[in-house]
Amino acid sequence: MKLTPPDLKRFAERCQQRVEAALGRFLASENTLPVQLHQAMRYAVLGGGKRIRPLLVYAAGQASGARQQALDVTACSVECIHAYSLVHDDLPAMDDDDLRRGKPTCHKVYGEAEAILAGDALQALAFSLLAHADMGAIASHRRLQMIELLSQASGSRGMVGGQSLDLAATGKQLDIAELENMHIHKTGALIRASVLLGALCAEKLPEEQKQALDHYGKYIGLAFQVQDDILDVTGNTEQLGKESGADSALNKPTYPSLLGLTGARERALELHQAALDSLDGLDESADPLRWLSRYIVDRAT
Ligand code: IPE
Ligand code: IPE
Ligand code: MG
Ligand code: MG
Ligand code: MG
Repeated sequence: MKLTPPDLKRFAERCQQRVEAALGRFLASENTLPVQLHQAMRYAVLGGGKRIRPLLVYAAGQASGARQQALDVTACSVECIHAYSLVHDDLPAMDDDDLRRGKPTCHKVYGEAEAILAGDALQALAFSLLAHADMGAIASHRRLQMIELLSQASGSRGMVGGQSLDLAATGKQLDIAELENMHIHKTGALIRASVLLGALCAEKLPEEQKQALDHYGKYIGLAFQVQDDILDVTGNTEQLGKESGADSALNKPTYPSLLGLTGARERALELHQAALDSLDGLDESADPLRWLSRYIVDRAT
């Protein structure tokens, strides 16, 4: 049975509700000591964001026959890493942004020091979820494999490495290969890992399917940051929920600055097509992944 756009919208809403509820349970309550820290963590994570990485976890899980309970934990884990990366990305020492997800940034509300700690603690929480939250019948070696994957994707050879390249590139000219390398790391790595982590929640994951999903994740991971760069130029602050024009204000190399808006759009569509091609051997259970790829390059927020 082919999924229609309303089916997919329902899929997304259901996943967003599941992950929101699960995050609310996994994060310590607002009155847990130290109160400021736990409030800052909840502020950074709850009630905002598109939840694209969790959606990819659920969609890859569906394509692989994984159980919901394991997917809930995994979706929360990647979203905690993502939320921590945003808190730190917005700090004065990094992009120095005041607005995130339509609200003042974490450091604007809780102060820089507490925001740094909230990010640190969210990172630890992400790994503790994969290590011992109830994921139903999942083998311990699978959990270890997932922890290893997430740590690679978020560490110095993944997202954090990409953020370091981003800082070094600020105010400089990069060539397209260097820009692509930076984007693959700072944003692509965690998105790619989200897809694979969702698939790893399944009891059995044939090598061929794993490869196909990993290729898909690689392409949409890069496409996601190409579109983020485009929206920084074409979007407005209210719609984005974060300051538009922030990249050019900081003189950051981006896809539009190197290729122009038309060239950047072409590159995003090319990556979307490559992502779809990667899924050729998969049946309609992979339709949410196909739809998410389209969404990633067409989104306006
Ligand atoms: C923004 O990510 C930061 C990047 C890695 C480009 P998202 O656009 O997914 O942000 P939220 O989670 O929806 O706020
Ligand atoms: C952020 O890239 C990447 C990470 C947070 C790891 P950007 O700096 O472009 O993200 P936005 O535009 O502030 O959301
Ligand atoms: Mg940044
Ligand atoms: Mg930023
Ligand atoms: Mg950006």
